[in-house]
Amino acid sequence: MDQALESWKPIRCEFGPGLDRLRQSADVAFVHDEIVLQLSELLQLRSPARKLSPAELRDAVAAHAGGALAAYGSWFYYPWLKSLVHLVPRDEFRELRTQINRNKITAQEQEKLSRFTIGVVGLSVGQSTAITLALEGVGGSFRLADFDTLAPANMNRVRAGVQSLGINKAVLTAREIFELDPYADISIFPEGVTDTNIDAFLEGLDLLFEESDDLRMKVRLRERARIRGVPVIMGTSDRGLVDIERFDREPDRPLFHGITGPLDEKKLLGMTPYEKIPIAFAVVGPTLSNRLAASLLDISVTLNTWPQLASAVALSSAINTDAARRILLGQFTESGRFFVDLESLVRDGGGEAIPLPMPDESHLPALASEPLPPLDTARPTKPEVPRKITPDEARTLIGYGALAPSGGNCQPWRFVLRRGRILCVHDIARSRSGRMLDFEHSATHLAFGALARNIELAADAMGRHVAIAPFPDEASLGGDLGGDGGERIVCAVEAVAASPHPPSRLARFMAERVTNRRIGQAMPLERAHRAELLEAARRAGARLQIIEQEDARNALGAIIGEGDRIRCLSPSMHREMMSEIRWTRAEALARRDGIDVATLELGPADLVGLRLVSNAQVMKLVKEIGAGKGLELPARKAISGSSTVALLTTQGTDCGAFFSGGRALQDVWLTASANRLALQPMTALLYMFARLERGAGAGLSDDEQASLRRLRQRFRELFDVGPGHAELMLFRLSYAAPPSARSLRHRVDDLLVIEP
Ligand SMILES: Cc1cc2nc3c(=O)[nH]c(=O)nc-3n(C[C@H](O)[C@H](O)[C@H](O)COP(=O)(O)O)c2cc1C
Repeated sequence: MDQALESWKPIRCEFGPGLDRLRQSADVAFVHDEIVLQLSELLQLRSPARKLSPAELRDAVAAHAGGALAAYGSWFYYPWLKSLVHLVPRDEFRELRTQINRNKITAQEQEKLSRFTIGVVGLSVGQSTAITLALEGVGGSFRLADFDTLAPANMNRVRAGVQSLGINKAVLTAREIFELDPYADISIFPEGVTDTNIDAFLEGLDLLFEESDDLRMKVRLRERARIRGVPVIMGTSDRGLVDIERFDREPDRPLFHGITGPLDEKKLLGMTPYEKIPIAFAVVGPTLSNRLAASLLDISVTLNTWPQLASAVALSSAINTDAARRILLGQFTESGRFFVDLESLVRDGGGEAIPLPMPDESHLPALASEPLPPLDTARPTKPEVPRKITPDEARTLIGYGALAPSGGNCQPWRFVLRRGRILCVHDIARSRSGRMLDFEHSATHLAFGALARNIELAADAMGRHVAIAPFPDEASLGGDLGGDGGERIVCAVEAVAASPHPPSRLARFMAERVTNRRIGQAMPLERAHRAELLEAARRAGARLQIIEQEDARNALGAIIGEGDRIRCLSPSMHREMMSEIRWTRAEALARRDGIDVATLELGPADLVGLRLVSNAQVMKLVKEIGAGKGLELPARKAISGSSTVALLTTQGTDCGAFFSGGRALQDVWLTASANRLALQPMTALLYMFARLERGAGAGLSDDEQASLRRLRQRFRELFDVGPGHAELMLFRLSYAAPPSARSLRHRVDDLLVIEP
């Protein structure tokens, strides 16, 4: 054989006159120089969020290569191909070649995998396994052993061209791997594993694939692997059988799981093939497929050997590689016999139930809550004799009151009309979905404040005047509320002689106020609108800080995004968040609370994203592998499409502060509605901060606390938050079209108990 036929290793060539000489010589028939292609892809790969223009790429490639493109990286000469190939350096080449593995294999896992040495004995099934391992980047060093050469009969399952007939299988396999990756580290054993080289073969191996046909060598390899603590995998290309023997974890494990009984390698040495049949049968016989069993009966009669198919060998290499990856990464620890039997898995009647697609409801009209009697906001107010609130008045007042916003639209309220007073009761069960974020029930109390403000506005517009007492003395109001205990009257509404409030035009906007999550245009906030919002907050005893500058908005978008990521990756907060979502119209109508997915204003692709995010197992994995930067994007995008982000604060952090803060919030929100401004609260972060600071981090992991502490610092650089102040609500404002859907409310009759 000449050198080209025996060669199996590419030769690395120094850039310079030697390379030029080789290039001109008859040894080189082809020159492949795609260095620009490789560098362009690499540099684009490192900028996933932004597509580089052709001109940018060209400049970036030149800068990266330091101007000398031809000298960049390495040149390899493949003697058996008579080819000269130009490649980027090893680390960049690996980065390029394994990019699409991420994050089925993370970059850290990939790096770890590249440090392992894997041996493969027997290169029929083994060839396919070795190539799959190399393709996937499982293992960085390979030892390949087979004494056999490629015969025509191998060509039903060994991937090799006809020009390779007669070539040793270890040489062929090494070539295939080197053609994938000339930086690979490969040793070949073209004489096969023998009594003299077995120790050299096994020395320092992390994993052994034993795919040989020789029973004695199978036993020998296992015995030696067991002594050295090397795990052994054997794929058998029938019924997707794979045997895994974890000699690294079980130093006393019997060979072949003990199914052959004690085996003596010396005894096997003297046995004829005929005498070995019972032992071989013990290993694989009881589990053979019917086709293989039937074929065995005809061997040496009408068949020359046992049959094997390319599909089975390909399957085996997939199972082997997958098992190897998880074993080496410590994700799979057991020994055993496993089947991936395609005939029993993919068969008539074996199909999995297919989940129905989510209905496309985009063409349906938006849902509407119960109609309420219209309010006459133009009516002049006049002093009235106080009298008890009637059931009809109570229904109207509660109808308008309950239009108030609440976290996750949980509507944490129910009402009792008792002796002409409306008692507004915290229905604890309804606010359960937000326990983590509803720190000390502050979000609930905020919502009640907004509800109280609506009741007041509605009463004014009805020509009735009410006084609302927050957190009243319950005993004086008659005690028992008829609930299951633990409930609290958050406020009591009583008719009084004269309104402490002048009639407000804001009453007109109660029914229009809505959470509008559309992404608008980042148009500057009109000065008049800004002034009105600030004044609304001030009049109600709160403070509004408005951030308009693009840099600051973007900084805040990044902070809120990171907060969203923490929330999604926290199992308890994720569970609560997802329990609020109503995925279909039927669910929204049946429950009449929570966040109707239609109100999230998601496009079809973002909806798919939310489905992925809703899966707790997926989020658990994202957390484990330190991924999930994409979870930060929606907040960034929403904020970059907003005019401003605003923070509403008030003095004090007790329940009274949040209650009166809720009234201020409602005035600000109604003022925004009056000016056709879209408003979306983005509050999770504030309530996590509250838990961190006022709740000593209870319920948050150490990691979450540390991340939140860092975010808190960045947040404080943007907003002035004094000690002893409550941060009531963070929200974005934009000029956007009206929302395409609204959240429903419970029916008043389901909320109100009228006592006789
Ligand atoms: C305390 C509180 C916190 C809220 N947090 C968020 C939030 O983080 N993100 C969001 O999109 N909406 C948030 N909202 C808006 C509610 O989801 C919304 O008010 C509720 O679904 C009712 O819908 P509506 O405002 O359109 O009537 C919050 C509302 C309140 C009162």
